[in-house]
Amino acid sequence: MKKFNLSLVLLLISIWVFSESILLNPYNRKDAISLNGEWNVIIDPFCRGEISGFYKNKKPSGKADFVEYSFSNVFRLHVPGDFNSQLPELKYYEGNVWYQRTLKLNIISDKRQFLYFAGANYFSKVWLNGVEMGSHEGGFLPFQFDITPFVKNGENDLVVMVNNNRKKENIPAMNFDWWNYGGISRDVFLVQTPTSFIEDYKIQLKKSSSTTLTGYLRLNGVQTAQNVEINIPELKINKTLTTNETGEVSFEISAKPQLWNPEIPKLYSVRFVFGKDTICEDIGFRTIETKGDKVMLNGIPVFLKGVNFHEEIPQRMGRAYSDADAAMILNEVKALGCNFIRTGHYPQNERIVRMAEKMGLMIWEEIPIWQGIDFTNETVMKKAEVMFKDMIARDKNRAAIIIWSVANETAPSTDRNRVLRGLVNLTRKLDNTRLIGAAFNNISYTKETSTFTLQDSLVQSLDLVGVNKYMGWYMSFPVAPGQLKWNIAIDKPLLISEFGGEAVYGQHGANDVASSWSEEYQEKLYIDNIDMFKNIPNLCGITPWVLFDFRSPTRMNYLNQNGWNRKGLVSDKGLRKKAWYVVKDYFNSK
Ligand code: GCU
Repeated sequence: MKKFNLSLVLLLISIWVFSESILLNPYNRKDAISLNGEWNVIIDPFCRGEISGFYKNKKPSGKADFVEYSFSNVFRLHVPGDFNSQLPELKYYEGNVWYQRTLKLNIISDKRQFLYFAGANYFSKVWLNGVEMGSHEGGFLPFQFDITPFVKNGENDLVVMVNNNRKKENIPAMNFDWWNYGGISRDVFLVQTPTSFIEDYKIQLKKSSSTTLTGYLRLNGVQTAQNVEINIPELKINKTLTTNETGEVSFEISAKPQLWNPEIPKLYSVRFVFGKDTICEDIGFRTIETKGDKVMLNGIPVFLKGVNFHEEIPQRMGRAYSDADAAMILNEVKALGCNFIRTGHYPQNERIVRMAEKMGLMIWEEIPIWQGIDFTNETVMKKAEVMFKDMIARDKNRAAIIIWSVANETAPSTDRNRVLRGLVNLTRKLDNTRLIGAAFNNISYTKETSTFTLQDSLVQSLDLVGVNKYMGWYMSFPVAPGQLKWNIAIDKPLLISEFGGEAVYGQHGANDVASSWSEEYQEKLYIDNIDMFKNIPNLCGITPWVLFDFRSPTRMNYLNQNGWNRKGLVSDKGLRKKAWYVVKDYFNSK
């Protein structure tokens, strides 16, 4: 019997334990290897693949042998990219898709090797050489696996199953107003590190200070105290930090950085060096707070001139995933005159987030706790906590992110308040430097006083309140817009986080007939809403819903929608509607 290899078992256990928590960010590691490209696929609508052993990628072993499945180099899909938009027959597909590719690897004694997925929707399972590496739930955040002990010299077989079936206990749950794009929708990397490496770090301005950088750094694979260098050349910072024996160190460094802001989105090259491991990242420094009903950026009140958008390229009818995609979206955002974006309704890919930061766009980020989430289910709460932790872990060094939002349009209940207050408390623990918000649509209207109010105890736990209110669309104006009053969370900043109405580009008609779906109606709706906004005493900004027309299976008016939500200020072909110019003028006036 083979000698029982205790050390290998211990190594495997430690790797399994840590591989859940380590997230090496390949966008900061110059030597990360992209695994993007054409991958072999099998479509598995009856979810038979795991029982049939697709993950073994078995080949016939003789004349009499045959295999019922094959990742033949015939049927392929592009990675990254949702599968729905790559083949007409997959337009509405919900089920399993199996991906396979070979990796030419070598066993490298002084390195560890990881597979990093920037995102795959919704549930993924990964095998290497027929051995399960692990699984991940959630469509919009990264995950990775330490494959070191499972690598062979030469050709290695990588198999990934992705399932996008909607489920009541998922986040988002069964119903949502965007396309259920499934698949490996974001970048995939192979990351090789020294056996001991820099696992994680955070460096931002200390809360309420503009002259103290604070943060932490964590090493992996060390058992004694270590020295790590931190260099920020432009700030003449070259410090050596000494970790404890588990490889952790927290620090405070005096500095006078030029503060990041939309006009001058200053980023500093920050470098961490530990042994053979070097990480470089461009990081900005700014303060963000509220003062009464104002949002204070670097101690100065700022008005959030924003817009919502989905992570979608309408012309391609698919998920956005590349730098070119990010540039297309964000250039249109800047053209509108924005200094702020709300990445509806999930953490969008890092290429969008990092490019937005470089372009001076502040960001509201959220996980898809969207309307009908099952807050009574304990596993849903655990999933929400993991997703929120992963979102903060991924983007904690992004100065552009100023608001973490815990929910969008959730109905008040004891369970909902318990779960969302739990997320607020978790966030305050993980990151006390940013604002915490949520978007509400349970707004009441009092006819006698023409006043909007919001009775929701969750508000008191938040720094900032978002209101989604579709005046002129889901609710007609009960009185002239300028006569409407707002009395919502007046001691806090209030963002109109969603408003708007639908129009088909090039469709013209009366501006007082909603069912005309005309540009004129949408234009007038925006004029009226902006007129109403003047009466909101604590208005800190607006984010129209939505920048581009976007796809949604719930939009079935086949004359005007045909599977598209037409609230875009810009059409699915990239053409600006009349309302776009109303917003542009309003932002110019602010
Ligand atoms: C809601 C929701 C959006 C949705 C929008 C609409 O407010 O947050 O995701 O697309 O309304 O109805 O168009």
